[in-house]
Amino acid sequence: MRPAYEIPHFSTISTAPRDADVELLAVPWFEGMVALPTELDAVAGADLRSAIDRGEFAGRSCDLYATRITAPGWKASRAVVVGGGRRDEMRVETTRRMAAAVGLMARQQRLPRVAWVADADDPQLVQSVAEGFALANFDNGHYKSRDDAPFFLSHVLIAGGDADAIERGRIVGESMNAARLLINEPGNRLTPRELAERGAAIAAVPGVDAEILDEAQLAELQMGLLLGVARGSAEPPRLLALRYEPSDAPPGPMLGLVGKGITFDTGGISIKPSDGMERMKDDMAGGAAVIAALRAIALQKLPVRVIAVVPTTENMPGGKAVKPGDVLHGASGLTVEVNNTDAEGRLVLGDGLWYAQRLGATHLVDVATLTGACVVALGRVTTGLFGAPNGWVDALRSAAERAGERVWPLPLFDEYRESLKSEIADMVNSPGRPAGAITAAMFLKEFVGDLPWAHLDIAGTAWAEEAKAWTPKGATGVMVATLVELARSAGSPWPTR
Ligand code: BES
Ligand code: MN
Ligand code: ZN
Repeated sequence: MRPAYEIPHFSTISTAPRDADVELLAVPWFEGMVALPTELDAVAGADLRSAIDRGEFAGRSCDLYATRITAPGWKASRAVVVGGGRRDEMRVETTRRMAAAVGLMARQQRLPRVAWVADADDPQLVQSVAEGFALANFDNGHYKSRDDAPFFLSHVLIAGGDADAIERGRIVGESMNAARLLINEPGNRLTPRELAERGAAIAAVPGVDAEILDEAQLAELQMGLLLGVARGSAEPPRLLALRYEPSDAPPGPMLGLVGKGITFDTGGISIKPSDGMERMKDDMAGGAAVIAALRAIALQKLPVRVIAVVPTTENMPGGKAVKPGDVLHGASGLTVEVNNTDAEGRLVLGDGLWYAQRLGATHLVDVATLTGACVVALGRVTTGLFGAPNGWVDALRSAAERAGERVWPLPLFDEYRESLKSEIADMVNSPGRPAGAITAAMFLKEFVGDLPWAHLDIAGTAWAEEAKAWTPKGATGVMVATLVELARSAGSPWPTR
């Protein structure tokens, strides 16, 4: 099988661009700039300015303009100018995408070594440049047997880049790629057992312990919600729990990450229409995100205790499947009337959130491709953010801002709780169409007690429906960077409730 990704060798350089031993020099360009940085302007500036005059290059975000370097004494034979739009609108995400666009172009032209030449040296931006190049070194054609092997970048040099920031970016980018590979895997390859094993393997880095619960252990713990969803499938469910408890972490807080791990969602007896159902192999993207984030947190040796919990099963319409109207008992003691078997994510997360608390989590975040309603509300641009108290929701907002990922809060007013009412059980799992993303979050809220908790609905953001200059079609690896930033913020006190 073809490899899905390779991580280039990253380093910082302090030499002049002419001495950079690479095939390609990459230079960011923002609207209003008049010259390229350093001596590069003397060899490529005139060509660029005439391209701008002709209207061939406008410098919009991720626009590329490639030019040859013919001046004697330069090691690189090409330069590419990459647009960044307006500098005052630039965000971490802009530079990540710019670097990724350059990386994809370099791979297409089979140029193995790239140097990024810019005057900004803000560590957060340097990190995002490294992330972007790591992300560019990802190939979707994992199962193509006839095409040539993919060409990967071998070296990325970042001029003036802080070595720690580059290293953080490499780790985050590589972890996102690990998540993307899992998410892209088809359901026949990535069964629940396989997700648990490969998740444990991804997180098998120093300081991390993994535990995989099988169906007998889940029954022992009375996880009737997870087991209920699994009933329709020939594949047994699993629960993956990862723990990272570094000795230098303060004893108080423990971040509990919980990710939805539905390896394929047919909808069950409330079956989905066949059009587009193949995408439901990505219904474990939340699980992949928390596994990848915990790996990156451990590799960065962040001084905070973190656990990741991934309840995983298929959602299938088998002869033993849970039926609309059935009542399930969760490990927390709550009973649920399953009025729609397609609202399975909140069921498995209910038991997953309970287990994270049992392992000692003090601050919870769950990540899930939970509702089509969230895609209606926020589209494919923005991850839905929910939770309480507000201080914890704010901690996630600012982590996402620093990480360069779009999230936006939606409310959890008490009035929404009414729609969860069931005649015969504590609640129903599918309260109907109005405010579907919110009522799904209200359901999860029933399982978190008084702990600070946030819920990230990535139904719209986990998957790129079309290729862009900076990414191929497929899994995005969304929220890995945000969760790592959140863990990095553990030094400043987290809110309690
Ligand atoms: N995995 C889906 C949500 C989803 C839909 C993700 C589209 C990505 C794209 C989830 O399990 C689901 O089916 N949700 C239902 C809930 C409803 C039955 C209350 C939905 O959104 O339709
Ligand atoms: Mn579903
Ligand atoms: Zn689902």
